[in-house]
Order: sequence, then structure tokens, then C-alpha cells
Amino acid sequence: MTGPRATPSAGVSRPGGRTPSTGARAQAALSDFTGDSYIRRAGRQLIVTLYGAIRVIRLYPPENEAVRNALSDVAQSAQMMLDREHELELRASNEFIFINSTRLRLDLDNYASFSQILSVMRACGVGSVRILNGAQPKDWLVFLSLLLSQSKADDDVTTYDLADKLAVAGVTAFDLGPPLVVEDDTDFRQRAKEAAKRTYSQSVAVTKDVMNSVRMGASPNIKKIKRVVQSIVDQILNEETSLVGLTTIRDYDEYTFTHSVNVCIFSVALGRRLGLSKLQLYDLGLAALFHDIGKSRVPLVVLNKSEGLTDDEWRWLAAHPWLGVLALFHLRGQQELPYRAMVVAYEHHMKNDLSGYPRSVRPRIQSIFSKIVAVADGFDAATSRRAYQTVPMSPAAVLAGMRDNARRGMDPVVVKGFINLLGVFPVGTLVVLDTFELAVVHATNPNPAAISRPIVRIVSDDRGNVLFPGHLADLTEQHPDGAFKRTIIKTETPERYGINVGDYFV
Ligand SMILES: [Fe+2]
Ligand SMILES: [Fe+2]
Repeated sequence: MTGPRATPSAGVSRPGGRTPSTGARAQAALSDFTGDSYIRRAGRQLIVTLYGAIRVIRLYPPENEAVRNALSDVAQSAQMMLDREHELELRASNEFIFINSTRLRLDLDNYASFSQILSVMRACGVGSVRILNGAQPKDWLVFLSLLLSQSKADDDVTTYDLADKLAVAGVTAFDLGPPLVVEDDTDFRQRAKEAAKRTYSQSVAVTKDVMNSVRMGASPNIKKIKRVVQSIVDQILNEETSLVGLTTIRDYDEYTFTHSVNVCIFSVALGRRLGLSKLQLYDLGLAALFHDIGKSRVPLVVLNKSEGLTDDEWRWLAAHPWLGVLALFHLRGQQELPYRAMVVAYEHHMKNDLSGYPRSVRPRIQSIFSKIVAVADGFDAATSRRAYQTVPMSPAAVLAGMRDNARRGMDPVVVKGFINLLGVFPVGTLVVLDTFELAVVHATNPNPAAISRPIVRIVSDDRGNVLFPGHLADLTEQHPDGAFKRTIIKTETPERYGINVGDYFV
């Protein structure tokens, strides 16, 4: 391959001069931090330089200047951490990276580098790397090139294969460890779960408060709502699984409020996948939480009706998009009106081809926020039990419908992102396994290649005995002969088995 020799191509930008190096400058800026916060910052810096090195190694031959520079940055970042901390261990555990037992914070700016490093380590069967004193750029080159070539290999590679190859190459600067078992994270997961529950119940309470005060004709304060949206966004950026899992608690009596919160959670998680910034996610979350605020101006008898609506009642219901815009004009504590929320309230039932409501007089294109909220809204509404929908559809069937039925009017790209987010079998789906066990889908598999093999919670044994709280199983687990231990045969309706899926998420 003939890559440029002197200047790296776009995407791997680097200032021309090498003095002082990027690594040294970044490290100097870090010298004020201590303890955990130093490790978090310096660790992130290391991950970013590693990611940069992996990218240039893929693009250029080893003697290329861009490769040499990137490798010396990595070696420098690592050595400076070693000098200060006297040890340096990088560990991958589920979706997280730990450096010397400190979990690095994931945010949108480093999402790409984190997921890249995690997936390369996972593909090579490496759980941890201990970096020893004196690792040179050439050692890093051998190590990273081996990682990249192993992760391309199709067959099952293990830590030991890689360690052997390093030894053969005479590289002794790295100690590799196998992937860690899931139980290692119990504590962190438990804390994340508690935080998610707090955020969820707080969000429902505040939403209830706002919707009720609009119904009473008062002007609710937007500040409280903004804080709720912020905590939802922060939580999703930090640990997505717990909060998304809570959307399966379908409280029939509180439908209007839990629906708004669920749509907000789904929209923010989806917006993050689509690459929105944190500030955009705040805006999107606010719009999603308010998408049905116009329903607070629709008479309750119409909202709670279980049979077909009369023409007049339908007109009331179909007015909720523009009634929502009016309600948003009356929010207090706001210097600027929430225009994006108004647009979403107005457009969320319009559909992609404008065949929905309200009818648009002129041609228009639904905003991306409205498209996202429409998908989240359609999914949550169809999978919930409500006055006029006593048997909700299975989440998997709803997703398939949104993808395949053009009349639903969903944006195909947004739907695709949503399926990637929830998996082919969304969180909360009850599934039958080939072991005759029943299981509830707990989370999508962290391995993106295993979209149909989620993490599940086994909720009944092969004889039909209900287990509570049951235990988690990763459907990518294999027997020594390579056969999968468990595989999903089909989805089932929880009502048929008397199972309340939400119970398994609290
Ligand atoms: Fe709506
Ligand atoms: Fe809705």
C-alpha cells in the first residue's frame, strides 16, 4: 500500500512539529490532578492515543512517520502513568474500561475510541493488559499489530495464543490476562441499577406534576423538568442498560406519565447511537418528555375511552399535537421558548410521508428529532397495555412491523438505529430457549456481531418452574465442542405464562 509518507491523511490530524509531543503536552496538563481523577484523565488520554495508533497502523506501513509518531505518543503516555502510579493495567469488563481498577468515564467524545479498543480486545480474547516499565514504541508496534491481525482471524483466539506470539517476537513488556467473568461487576451494576430506579421514579413524579398542572390551567416550571432530562441523559451516557430495562415496567394506571418517560429514555439512547452531542441530547430529551403534553388539554373521558371514538372525540385526540405547542408557550422559567420541543409536539404523528396528522398544507420534512421521537413513541405505545389495547404486541413483532410496514411511516434509518439499540429481541421480551427454559431479555449483547444472542435472565427451568429472581445467561456462551449452550427458539406473550416482565427489572 502506498500511503503518504510525511503527512497523515485527513482524520488522523496532527500538528506538524514534534516538540513538545502531543503526549507530553497532554501529560503536563494533567499534572495538577491527583488520585482517581488523574487516572481517569490520563487513562482517557492513553485510550485516545491507542485508538489513534490503531487507526494509523491500519492505514500505513510501520516505517511511516504517522505510525512512528502515534507509537511514541502511546509509549510516552503509558510511561508517564507508570512513573507516577508505578503500575499500569488496562482491563476490559463488559462495556467498560478500567485502568488500575478505576473505571473510565465514557462520553460522546471518546465513544468511538472506547468501543474500538473494547472490540479489538474482545475479539482477541484478551481481558487485561499489564504494561511493564520500559515498553518501547517498537514493542507497542508488535503488540498492536498482533492484536489487529488476531482480531481479524475468524477462529477462536485466546489470550494464550497472543501471549505465545509476543514471546516468539521477543516482546516482554506486556502481561496479558483472560477476559473476566461478569460477576466482577456486581457492585457497580447494583449501584447503577439503584441510580436508574431513582432517576426513573423521579422522572415519572415530575412529569405527572407538570401534566397535571397543565390540566389545571397552571403554567408549570420548566427548570425541574430540565433537571430530570439531564439526569436521564447523564445516566444513559454512563450506563444505558439499567435505565432502558426500566422501560419494561408498564404501569397501567400511570400510563400517560410512564409513557412520556419511556419515550424520553428511548429517544435519548437512540439519539446517542445516531451521534448527537450531549447538548443535543438534552434538547431531544426535553422534546421527547413533552411530546404528548397536549394530551393534558384533551378531556380525560376521551383519553381513557376503551372503545371506538366518535368523530368529535377523534378530533379532540388528533388536536393534541397543536394543543401541545400552545401548552409549551406557557412554560415558566424559560428565557427562550423550547422551539425544538414545539416542533416535535407538532410533528410526532405526521409520519414520514405526511399521511398522518395534523395534515400539512405545504410539503415539509419531519425534523430528525420528530423522527426519533416518532419511533420511540410508536414502540412504547404498541408494547404497552392501555384502555383500548388489553393485549400488547410482543416487542419483537412491533420492531419488525416498524421496519417492514411502510404505512407506519417511520424513517428507515432511524428504525435501523433503534433495532441496533434494542437488538432483534428487545429488552423485556419473553423468549423460549432450545433448552426449554423461559427467559426475559435483559440486555443486548455487548458484542455487536451477536445481535440475536442477547444477555437473558432465565425465569423458568425446563419443567416450567418459575424462578425468581432467576439468573443471567449470555447466549453467546458455547460448549467446549463449539455448540451454543442456549439459543432462542421463539418469543412468547408473558400473559400466557402469568409472568410480569417488569418484576425482573426492579
Ligand atoms: Fe402523541
Ligand atoms: Fe405518545
